Amino acid sequence: MKKWMKYVKPYSLYFILGPLCMIVEVIGEVLMPLFLAEIINSAIAGTITAESSLIVMAEMIGTALLMMIGGVGGSYFGAKASVNFAADLRSDLFKKVQGYSFANIDKFSTGSLVTRLTNDVTQMQNMINMALRMMLRSPGMLIGGVLMAIKLSPSLSIVMAVTLPLLIAAMAIIIARGMPLFSKRQDKIDKLNSTVQENITNVRVVKSFTREGFETKKFEDANKDLKDAGMSAMKNMILMSPVQSFFMYLTIALVIWFGSQLVITNFDTVGLNSAFGVGELSSFINYVTQILMSLMMVTFMLMFSSRALASAKRISEVLDEEIDITDVYGIDTEAKIERGEIEFRGVTYRYYKHSQEPVLSDINLTIPAGSTVGIIGSTGCGKTTLVSLIPRLYDVDEGDVLIDGKSVKDYSLYNLREGVGMVLQKNVLFSGTIEENLRWGKENASDEEMMAAAENAQADKFVKNFTLGYKTELGQGGVNVSGGQKQRLCIARALLKNPKIIILDDSTSAVDTATEAQIRKAFREELANSTKIIIAQRISSVKDADMIVVMDDGKITGVGTHDALMESNTEYQEIYNSQISGKEGN
Ligand SMILES: Nc1ncnc2c1ncn2[C@@H]1O[C@H](COP(=O)(O)OP(=O)(O)O)[C@@H](O)[C@H]1O
Ligand SMILES: [Mg+2]
Repeated sequence: MKKWMKYVKPYSLYFILGPLCMIVEVIGEVLMPLFLAEIINSAIAGTITAESSLIVMAEMIGTALLMMIGGVGGSYFGAKASVNFAADLRSDLFKKVQGYSFANIDKFSTGSLVTRLTNDVTQMQNMINMALRMMLRSPGMLIGGVLMAIKLSPSLSIVMAVTLPLLIAAMAIIIARGMPLFSKRQDKIDKLNSTVQENITNVRVVKSFTREGFETKKFEDANKDLKDAGMSAMKNMILMSPVQSFFMYLTIALVIWFGSQLVITNFDTVGLNSAFGVGELSSFINYVTQILMSLMMVTFMLMFSSRALASAKRISEVLDEEIDITDVYGIDTEAKIERGEIEFRGVTYRYYKHSQEPVLSDINLTIPAGSTVGIIGSTGCGKTTLVSLIPRLYDVDEGDVLIDGKSVKDYSLYNLREGVGMVLQKNVLFSGTIEENLRWGKENASDEEMMAAAENAQADKFVKNFTLGYKTELGQGGVNVSGGQKQRLCIARALLKNPKIIILDDSTSAVDTATEAQIRKAFREELANSTKIIIAQRISSVKDADMIVVMDDGKITGVGTHDALMESNTEYQEIYNSQISGKEGN
């Protein structure tokens, strides 16, 4: 509750004014039938005059005008309150997700996060908008109606005392059945959004594998699930209105039956001294309708709230998710990476904390500052995981990672990641110009700095070949550059940061060997003072490194230069031989 108050507080005025305006409308609604009774009674009694009916008419119009002002005000403030609430909530959700660690993100699917940030927030917004308009209005009309009905005729009210509880019981059953159906429906929306999101993002892959049919089927399934979930929620709702109508007309029929007896005697037998004529009967029926209508609205509101509650829970999960990688309390926030020496000390890591087999086990490795280190090993052996621990994309389970003799946790995340440039294996460019993309690394970099970084990444030449050069617009995900060009731009982006530690995770796989050799040369010459870690598939990519780390199944099986490993490490020899024979085979 406290969590939501944060989004209510700035708009408390709207949250108060909205319902207040609705009270004005309610009062009018409760008063209206009285004017009617007055006119009918005087007409029947023959005491009606032009003047008296004019007065009543004026009263009615005045009340209607007030009701209109109240209604418009209520809707206006209700909308203001709910829209602002939703906007602030969405913005906080977005910020929260930006702060998520990789492990946090792994927990939610992207589709689910998108649904939570959009659809679920909208559900809450709608609920608030409605609640502000109905919250006081429906219960107000209900209570007002009941009071007025009792005042008009206590004995006739007994009829309602019998039918109303029956109706309420029926509604309670329907709602109790409906609530779980709505949370189910929200989960189905998640699934649908995940499918859409995954498909649209990867539509090229889908097409190249001609999997459109399969993907369409997957979507259809998710779509049908959602439809079914929606239908069963709806089916439940469908019952509501006929049941309510039945009770309404039943009550009215009973009221007319008993009421007409009262009219014949012109006296409410139980009432103290009230006269009961046609006018009273007709306004009584008005109140009965009003009471039942407002009861319908209350149930509708409950229904709506149960939906919004399901959404609120899902939103809470995002907001309450504990970000597991944050700045450690009490660290020296000024500390920056100075040299770039890296040490893994007894490091063990698991993605799933309950799983038996660690992805990395007992890693011990020291990488001297300024050196070039190659990491090689079969796919899935843990290379990416190992380097992810350096900028704290994930935190170690056991052991520690130290930079310049200091645990990575003793740096602020900002300074740590400023000091470590990592080109991820699955890297993306964003829509915008090449220049904008490169400046991600360093916003205020000069043009010279930017071009130098591009040159070192061997990207300068092909960029200059574009008619618009660095101003060339990239499509979403960098669709209009080739795989190798994209990789080089990603490297340039990381270089522009001028990091003390630069990590290339299989980042030259799509670059031809000649260009790759040039990148290596540039790295050696221009980035002499940075520690360079290069994960690669090809032996040729790491052959000249000062140190090569061979990994297998989460363990380091060998460390040394190419020549040393060729002598001592059977695995390295195997990789080497397979690549040589692979070449011969070609
Ligand atoms: N985000 C993740 N969640 C769960 N398991 C993962 C994740 N990333 C990688 N893994 C698993 O960890 C192991 C090592 O993966 P990775 O470090 O990416 O290997 P490499 O980069 O050497 O190919 C693999 O078995 C892989 O399935
Ligand atoms: Mg990898």
